[in-house]
Amino acid sequence: MSERRQDPPRRGSARELAGHDPGEAIARVAMALPPIERAYAVIRFAILRHKLLTILDLALPEAGRVLDVGCGFGLWSSYFSLVAPQRSIVGVDISERRVEVAREVKRKLGLERNEYHVGTVEASGVEGPFDGIVVLDVLHHVAPEHQRPMLEHLVSLLAPGGVLIVKDITTDSAFKLKFTEILDRVMVGFDEPLAYRHHHDWADELEALGLSTRVVRVSDVLPYPHVVLVARRDGGPSSQR
Ligand SMILES: C[S@@+](CC[C@H](N)C(=O)[O-])C[C@H]1O[C@@H](n2cnc3c(N)ncnc32)[C@H](O)[C@@H]1O
Repeated sequence: MSERRQDPPRRGSARELAGHDPGEAIARVAMALPPIERAYAVIRFAILRHKLLTILDLALPEAGRVLDVGCGFGLWSSYFSLVAPQRSIVGVDISERRVEVAREVKRKLGLERNEYHVGTVEASGVEGPFDGIVVLDVLHHVAPEHQRPMLEHLVSLLAPGGVLIVKDITTDSAFKLKFTEILDRVMVGFDEPLAYRHHHDWADELEALGLSTRVVRVSDVLPYPHVVLVARRDGGPSSQR
């Protein structure tokens, strides 16, 4: 009887990446961080969980240019690169220290395609077009009067058919919101703005900017009112699917 031989998947190919265990990539990112940031990463990964990470990963293009706004220590840009090596990720954050750590993680993990810049996206002079933009738990740290101009700028950087993914905290449960606010205050103190908005409000804003928007509320065992918005610009091959 003849046996059908199957070649092993090419490293980094879609076949190898399909069914990839997010835990492996998470562990690699955490181990590349200095000890204090590693503890923070363990908490962030616990908050975002495999479920959320895989939702975000699936919504992002598998290849192409991706902008990570408020990239912090580079946790997600590194994760999204490890699970799909054809992505080139540009991370931007206003914290110089966080960007330094993100560059170090990039070096340790050999993520040559990634780059990191200090500042807001507008000030850092990052240029589009991007196939995907992710804004993960950043918008509620931006003062209300700056949120719309920031989104307008991000939309201007999207390639036709490109996708803007927002992960944020919604306001539909007073208890869950208070829980999140207390933890955010521990992190940022009382001088920084915390401008949470209802997910319908964000969806309306993104629609008004011309993006076709889907929104999902993601449940969690911890009382975090997570919400993910996937907003797509018209045009490009993905809009013909
Ligand atoms: C809660 S942390 C989230 C970091 C990362 N996205 C994550 O999910 O772990 C918010 C980050 O946004 C950054 N940030 C706040 N406002 C920003 C802005 N206007 N432009 C770029 N980064 C910003 C902060 O320095 C911080 O690193």
